Amino acid sequence: MQATAEVCMSEFALDVRAGLGAEGQKTLPCRYFYDEVGSALFQVITRLPEYGLTRADDRIIRKRAEELAMRMEGPVLTVELGSGDGTKTRRILKALLRHGRPVYFPVDVSRTALDACRRLLAGVAEVAPLEASYLEGLQHAASLRRPGQRLFVLFLGSTIGNFSREEARQFLAQVRKILKPGDAFLLGTDLVKPKPQLLAAYDDPAGVTAAFNLNLLARINRELGGTFDLRRFRHEAVYNHAERRIEMHLRSIARQTVRVRDAAMLVEFDDGETIWTESSLKFRLDEVAALAAGGGFECVAQWADAEWPFAENLLIADGAGADGG
Ligand code: AVJ
Repeated sequence: MQATAEVCMSEFALDVRAGLGAEGQKTLPCRYFYDEVGSALFQVITRLPEYGLTRADDRIIRKRAEELAMRMEGPVLTVELGSGDGTKTRRILKALLRHGRPVYFPVDVSRTALDACRRLLAGVAEVAPLEASYLEGLQHAASLRRPGQRLFVLFLGSTIGNFSREEARQFLAQVRKILKPGDAFLLGTDLVKPKPQLLAAYDDPAGVTAAFNLNLLARINRELGGTFDLRRFRHEAVYNHAERRIEMHLRSIARQTVRVRDAAMLVEFDDGETIWTESSLKFRLDEVAALAAGGGFECVAQWADAEWPFAENLLIADGAGADGG
């Protein structure tokens, strides 16, 4: 009685059940990386010499914060999708302060992330955390805008890279539907770069990324009564050239059966079988501009970092088409 068993399952249990119960390639959604341990490990990743992404993002924002604030002259509501640790956003909000105390809506499904964000940013903005999915949170913030206020949406750190290219296209179009002409969307995108550099960034010699990936199994053990033996899985990062993306996997190094109590399942692994845990798309500059145009935005600026190929893209919602208002 599968249907009956599923009635009381948490969303996490249902997602694990679907991903590990799949016929072909087993998968787990990457948003479950970020429990308390995973969030702490990700913080360490952002400081690894091999992982230049976050520092590049931060350098560009530091350099362009004033220019961004100038372009956002007039009343604005700032909404951030996936609030991160707040460092980059702090620079933007501080620059916006010159027009008056900014109103800032961090949108995240993680309570922990929102609390940290409020602590860090309360000094520079009116912080109104929204515990919701990206689109629901954005929709809510948009419903609170007063006439004449523009929305300034931040989607930093190349979080968009976790989507497939098709999902990214759809996501931009959905964001555009909620916005009005003239609203701004600052999008961070990691760019294509030499394969050895990419592989080192996602398989660092100190093993922090391996721990980050394996923690997903530990989280299933902790929260869903799983019996994963982490020592019988190996972290792997491969670069898929055709799709221009890093793919992270957990490879079973033995034939084994794992029980996940709260997902009501026994999972069989062949020796060498993998669980695909994350995709991280790498973009080309012209591709981002085309993606924006296809979604109803004009890409008015692209700022790339000199050290680590990464770009901040400033998109403005087109006047043409439905204005969603
Ligand atoms: C937070 C999704 C941008 O894809 O680079 C870092 C997550 N995974 N190392 C990325 C991640 C492994 C990261 N994003």
